[in-house]
Amino acid sequence: TPQTLIDRFGRRVDYLRLSVTDRCDFRCVYCMAEDMQFVPKSEVLTLEELAQVAQAFVRLGVRKIRLTGGEPLVRHNIMELVEQLGAMEGLEELVMTTNGSQLQRLAQPLKDAGVKRLNISLDSLQPRRFRQITRVGHLEQVIAGIDAACTAGFEGIRINAVIMRGDNDDEILELVDFVRDRGIDLAFIEEMPLGRITDHDRALTLADSDWLRTQIETQHGLMALGDPGGSAGPARMYALEGSRSRIGFISPHSNNFCHLCNRVRVTVEGQLLLCLGNEHSVDLRELLRAPGSTMADLEQALLGAMAIKPERHYFDNSEEPQILRFMNATGG
Ligand code: GTP
Ligand code: 5AD
Ligand code: SF4
Repeated sequence: TPQTLIDRFGRRVDYLRLSVTDRCDFRCVYCMAEDMQFVPKSEVLTLEELAQVAQAFVRLGVRKIRLTGGEPLVRHNIMELVEQLGAMEGLEELVMTTNGSQLQRLAQPLKDAGVKRLNISLDSLQPRRFRQITRVGHLEQVIAGIDAACTAGFEGIRINAVIMRGDNDDEILELVDFVRDRGIDLAFIEEMPLGRITDHDRALTLADSDWLRTQIETQHGLMALGDPGGSAGPARMYALEGSRSRIGFISPHSNNFCHLCNRVRVTVEGQLLLCLGNEHSVDLRELLRAPGSTMADLEQALLGAMAIKPERHYFDNSEEPQILRFMNATGG
């Protein structure tokens, strides 16, 4: 029988989050330092190496791959990899998380190459505030990108919003209206302490999911759609009454979902990260670049790594980041 990836806690890993670049055309305040240093090109996995990693995972039973970044669509020739993965036998679901900046041009090609669903970040509907949160982004460009995605025929589109108290916490209902008008989904994400940021104090700005839900319920009916896990991932989803939209809450602080974890990450440096909120990792790049190494060697490394997948992360709300690597170097 073919081997599969199962960790010490009996969790089956069938989902890979593959980061294709740590670079990004935005500099979101919760994700990056303002003067972010990026990984030198020689240390970045080539498109061929990324495809090899994906292939090894799929051979071990991974059914879903999410391409992440940084911003995946700023990677040169990324569509070559997307097309290859879109055609990969055994991979049922190819999806992507993007900031939307390139979607006017690329939404349709992504759909045509086999990407099933997109998650698109959008934290504000006010041009000035959008610029302040992303430090460089243009709101109109991203909204045009979202609208291009809406007409491209994806199976699902979800907006991701990180809400920060005292900043964009007055836009919760506007964001709900934005997705309801388009019949797409929305997930509110509690900010996680990755990397040392200076823009705000995460302990003070955390907007917990229950508070957000109470705000929404002053205006809308929300009907619980069952527990996280499965196709909803870590998001607890609700149907927004009177619409086709669903509203989700990703609550790493207020509602830990690690027991449902079905995923691992590979960074653009080829580090296999067993958990977003822990440092446990395996260097796949060294293995990929070792003379004479084979697909079987790679598969053995992935199987072996299951022994060090941690049970869960422990994010507290202290001022010190628990993880020094930034989100853009982690793949979300
Ligand atoms: P699915 O692939 O449907 O599960 O989507 P997703 O919500 O996992 O993907 P997305 O890239 O949109 O990430 C949304 C937020 O969830 C980001 O802030 C991620 O960092 C966070 N996230 C994703 N996976 C995990 C996880 O295993 N643990 C924690 N703590 N956060 C996660
Ligand atoms: N905490 C939570 N979510 C974050 N993202 C980026 N940085 C953080 C953070 N520190 C989100 C982005 C994007 C997703 C991949 O991760 O908003 O939607
Ligand atoms: Fe770029 Fe996404 Fe990070 Fe913003 S959150 S800087 S768009 S990778």
